Order: sequence, then C-alpha cells, then structure tokens
Amino acid sequence: MNAGGALNRNIRADFPGMVTTDGVPWHYLDTGATSQKPQAVIDAVSCALGQDYATVHRGVYARSANMTLAYESARKRVASFIQASEDEIVFARGATEAINLVANSWGDANLRAGDRILLSTLEHHSNIVPWQMLAKRTGIHIDVCPLTGDGQIDLDAAEAMLTKQHKLVAFAHVSNVLGSVLDARRAANLAHNVGAKLLLDGCQAAPRLTLDMAELDCDFYVFSAHKLYGPTGIGALWARPEVLEAMPAWQGGGAMIDRVTFEKTTYAPPPQRFEAGTPAITEAIGLAAAIDYVADIGMDTIHAREAALVAQLRDALGAMNDVTVYGPDSAAGIVSFAIDGVHPHDLGTILDEHNVAIRAGHHCAQPLMDHLGVSATARASFGLYSDESDVTALLDGIARTKTIFG
Ligand SMILES: Cc1ncc(COP(=O)(O)O)c(C=O)c1O
Repeated sequence: MNAGGALNRNIRADFPGMVTTDGVPWHYLDTGATSQKPQAVIDAVSCALGQDYATVHRGVYARSANMTLAYESARKRVASFIQASEDEIVFARGATEAINLVANSWGDANLRAGDRILLSTLEHHSNIVPWQMLAKRTGIHIDVCPLTGDGQIDLDAAEAMLTKQHKLVAFAHVSNVLGSVLDARRAANLAHNVGAKLLLDGCQAAPRLTLDMAELDCDFYVFSAHKLYGPTGIGALWARPEVLEAMPAWQGGGAMIDRVTFEKTTYAPPPQRFEAGTPAITEAIGLAAAIDYVADIGMDTIHAREAALVAQLRDALGAMNDVTVYGPDSAAGIVSFAIDGVHPHDLGTILDEHNVAIRAGHHCAQPLMDHLGVSATARASFGLYSDESDVTALLDGIARTKTIFG
C-alpha cells in the first residue's frame, strides 16, 4: 500500500520485529510507546558492540579513536536531523532525562520563588513531574494551560495566562495520547513576548515531523531515540547555544570536566559538560543509523502516510455510535478511543489474541485522563511500517470484542 506517501518497497521486510514468534504478521500499533527497529539499526549496534567496540574520548589506540569519530559523528547526524549545530546537542538517556537535566541545571540556576511556568493539560508525566520537583525546591508556581474542545493546547488561553512572571513554557510538540500537533511557532512567540523560554517535548514529533530548530524558534527541544526507530537508553537535548553555555553542570564525574583538584573543579564546555561518565556509545551509533533510515524515506512521506492511516481509522471509529474518538482530526500518527461498556484493557487483551498490539491505559498522562473523565483509553499509534492491513485488523478485532461483550 502507499497511503499518503511514495513508499514503493516493502518497508516491513526491514523490521524483523514485525512478525510474531510464529512468523505471522504482527499488527503493531504501539509505536507511540516504542518503535520497532529496522535491520540497519540492529546491524549498526551489533557492529558497534562487536568488531568496532572500544571506549571513546580517551583511548590512544586506533579503535578507540575510530569509535570517538563514530560517536561524535552521531552527534553531527542528530544535529543535521533537527537542523542545528553539533555543539548544541547533548546526549541524554532519553527525553525524560533531558527534561530533568533542564529542570535541574537551567531551572535551579534561573528560577526563584514567585516565578511561574506554564505546562498544559495534555503533558506526559515526564514533562510534569520534573517541574513539580523543581517547584518544591524553588517555590515556583506551575500554571496549566487548558485544551480546546478537540484536544489541542489552547494557545488563546495560553496568551491570556502568560505574564512577565512566567519564565518557561513547556509543551508537547505532539501529544502522545491525542496526537495533537502544537503550533510551535505561535507558542514560541507567546513565550518570548513575556520573556519566557519555550521547551518542546518532541518525543512523538521527532518520528513524525520534519524538525528545524530555527523555524520552531524554541529554546529547548528533547526527544528519545527508541521512538525514532533507534535504541533505548539514548535521546537528545537541543538548547540554544547561549542558553546551554550559561547552564551549570548537572551530574558530576568523568568526561565533563576541564581540570580536577581537591580544591576546585572546572568544567568542560557544552555539550561535554552535561555528559558525565562513559556515554551510551553504541546507542548513539544506533540512533545515527535510525536517523539515516528515516531520512532515506523522508519525514514528509512518513507523516503523510501516518496521516492517511489516522484519517482512515478516525473515520471508521467515528461512524460507530458506541465509540468515543479523542483528539483532533489533524492528529499525527496517534488515535485514542473508548468503546462503551468495554474496558480498554479488555480490548487490548482480546486484540492481542488476534496479533494486534495496542496500548491501553493512562499513557503516563493522568491529568489528561482526569480531563477526559476516564481512567484509561485505548490507543493505536502508527509507525512508518504501518499500513491499511493494520487498520483492518484493528477494526476486525474491535468488531469481535463487541460481539464478545454483547
Ligand atoms: C510525549 C512524551 N514525552 C515524554 C516521554 C518520555 O520518553 P522516555 O520514556 O523515552 O524518556 C514520552 C514517552 O512515552 C512521550 O510520549
């Protein structure tokens, strides 16, 4: 199939995880949680762990020097993917750690009791809890921007709420539950108009949208490799160079220093200042391979293909009078829904028996569940390997579940 994109080869064949252990096609609709990995990424990680393996940054032997080149070229690859410069890319364990880094380093250095930050109702816990911990340490106040009726961050409300006391706005670029895509440029203008910085949680956007830091005009951007067809254990923080330069070290240890004595330690410039300890070497190489893979297909193609599948699924679910579909029609790659009288966990379990994998639960977004008035939703999230057969299998499974539940 070619829904919405010029994909003229069998993409699924690149993904060994897309079949069940019995060799039957697996309808994997949980890419929002984590993506399956193409063979190119598996091979890159395997080589890096095997014949190429050595430490980085300190070895005087050729293999270590080569590994250092590979690790630093992975940083360059991440930078080019988001149209930024390599010195602005800090590797972290993932988006969660990257947000914690910003909260602990930039937040502790810059925010004081009485300052305010603005989050939104739809944030993932990773973009809530680090700020609550910061609020406890510093006495800042957290405001919550409401959503529009169709589940987008309400930027008119944000405009009305923002004051000169606000020092940070931290929003999801794409919601992991509703698929809502933020008008990031407007959010940046609103934040900057009151002198606040904008952090974008790009976890669900990085696998789906073309990213250009200058165009987004944000101050911090974070994402995780494992949702972008790369390995777990690595992600990236991008920050404006002048902001990053002024941020104090967060975790201490090897590799982040300039000079250590027992009297005093001076620190390396960014990005090394924020990468204490032996880094996730093989993971970085896997991330670069994943970026090469998605770039070869093209982000616009991926987005168009997923948008076509979202439209198809939303139309089908919307036609059922016992199904509630959440989020806007323009959702990127993600559809959350609920069936009257069927708990999402029961749906997920029955679908699993038919080789369809969805997510059922609160999706690490409990405040959003409270807002929707539910404890859980069912969520189908697409990836670049998804096709119409996945939508058909899901709809068949929903029909069977309804039969079982009478
Ligand atoms: C929008 C969003 N933010 C943050 C995270 C946290 O990402 P990670 O667990 O990779 O750190 C996720 C993961 O589900 C997410 O979807």
